[in-house]
Amino acid sequence: MGNLDNGENKVSNDRVIIFDTTLRDGEQSPGASMTKEEKIRIAKSLERLGVDVIEAGFAIASPGDFDSVKTIADTIQDSTVCSLARAMDADIDRAAEALAGANSGRIHTFIATSPIHMEYKLRISPDEVVDYAVRAVKRARSKCADVEFSCEDASRSEIEFLCRIVEAAIDAGARTINLPDTVGYAIPEQYAALIRELRERVPNSDKAIFSVHCHNDLGLAVANSLAAVAAGARQVECTINGLGERAGNAALEEIVMAIKTRHDALGVHTNINTPHILSTSRMVSSITGFPVQPNKAIVGANAFAHESGIHQDGVLKHRETYEIMTAQDVGWNTNRMVLGKHSGRNAFRSRLEALGITLESEKALNDAFARFKELADKKHEVFDEDIQALMSDAVASPANEHYQLVSLEVNSRTGEIPVAKLVVSAGGEEHQLEASGSGPVDATFNAIETLAKSGANLQLFSVNAITQGADSQGEVTVRLELGGRVMNGNGTDTDIVMASARAYLNALNLLRDNQVKAHPQA
Ligand code: KIV
Ligand code: ZN
Repeated sequence: MGNLDNGENKVSNDRVIIFDTTLRDGEQSPGASMTKEEKIRIAKSLERLGVDVIEAGFAIASPGDFDSVKTIADTIQDSTVCSLARAMDADIDRAAEALAGANSGRIHTFIATSPIHMEYKLRISPDEVVDYAVRAVKRARSKCADVEFSCEDASRSEIEFLCRIVEAAIDAGARTINLPDTVGYAIPEQYAALIRELRERVPNSDKAIFSVHCHNDLGLAVANSLAAVAAGARQVECTINGLGERAGNAALEEIVMAIKTRHDALGVHTNINTPHILSTSRMVSSITGFPVQPNKAIVGANAFAHESGIHQDGVLKHRETYEIMTAQDVGWNTNRMVLGKHSGRNAFRSRLEALGITLESEKALNDAFARFKELADKKHEVFDEDIQALMSDAVASPANEHYQLVSLEVNSRTGEIPVAKLVVSAGGEEHQLEASGSGPVDATFNAIETLAKSGANLQLFSVNAITQGADSQGEVTVRLELGGRVMNGNGTDTDIVMASARAYLNALNLLRDNQVKAHPQA
């Protein structure tokens, strides 16, 4: 494969384009919905990471999604910003509208190609599916030079049909052809063979970049993506921390570091600025409330920790005995500066910058600095993780939220039923609330419900220590479900009951936003 013309960009044969879909497929994880401000923060962090394409959302899903895609398109300069669109005129027009201000925009249109999806979901014939695809790609190309076409459920589609529709989509103007393993069914050898066969059999395949998008239902998303790269795919669609629909998507950090560490085997590279991986992972985890498991590759707390004496001894004598990459290379320990209550505004500002957090105004910096000082008073040392959590909390619970925690008092004593007394402001009016419960957190939630009367089901309550030590902040995630809508609320504090109250109120505030969102694959 020679140099490929991908819309505006020339991409060399040994470079793998990293297409991040944390803000679209990642957001499809139950409970991972993010606000516009949170999405912008993540998009900026992805840009700094060197991601080639940021899939910012599905513009037609809701007015809120449109607004997020548009704002990200208007803000991001160095990465291509993409919107998903079904193979329908209205979707494509809405995507184009949202991307109008982008420095570099892409429309990603798709339709299902497997017999099971065509027969039972779409209920149209294969000929009609080809017609929809061609029409959609042509319409998208009339509005945007960079068009990607995806064959949803490609790994369960018939090869003859895939050859036909891929050729037609390329003829119609698609410059990236994506072959998703939508349900995580593929295994590496088969998936690689599919990519290889399509590249060989489709007569105009040299006019497109072949892309993969793998789900992790069998835990094979990264393995399948890398097998496809070895077979000639030159775009990988992935998400930070492997977030995504059901079991998630291929994890960006794993794909990128496998490509980097095993250049000898794969012979390709990416443009990712790997020392920014960890801060991006932490940002996504604290915004979504999806913790990263300690033994997670690359970004888990234990990924570079050596416990056994033999390993420690080996690493001290010669690092490569037990380490195949350096912790610094993915952002561990780089310049890690501990701040405390004597740290000044400048030290705080430069730590924010190093973490990829940019604040819009001096006022925002002053507010953040005041919160930092408050935390530093309670906590001896403030680590990077604390600052990330502090900033997420500030974005998640802005001062104009409907429900706000004013104060909290909980009495809990051996042999007695805990009682929580709270003052909560609702739309600016303060209310005194009181309730008992099986524990201090239960009492707190019960007290809030005496006011909110939401009727929501509590689906998940999780507490994570952000750093080590008993003075660590606790990061609480509360997942509430109401009428089929699922929202994760987050709260952080050195007092975990306080953090729980904030997380519960945050979830209630998100549920109050009544936007109905269309799911692209429904
Ligand atoms: O998994 C999938 O098939 C998708 C497509 C919309 C690309 O997310
Ligand atoms: Zn997907």
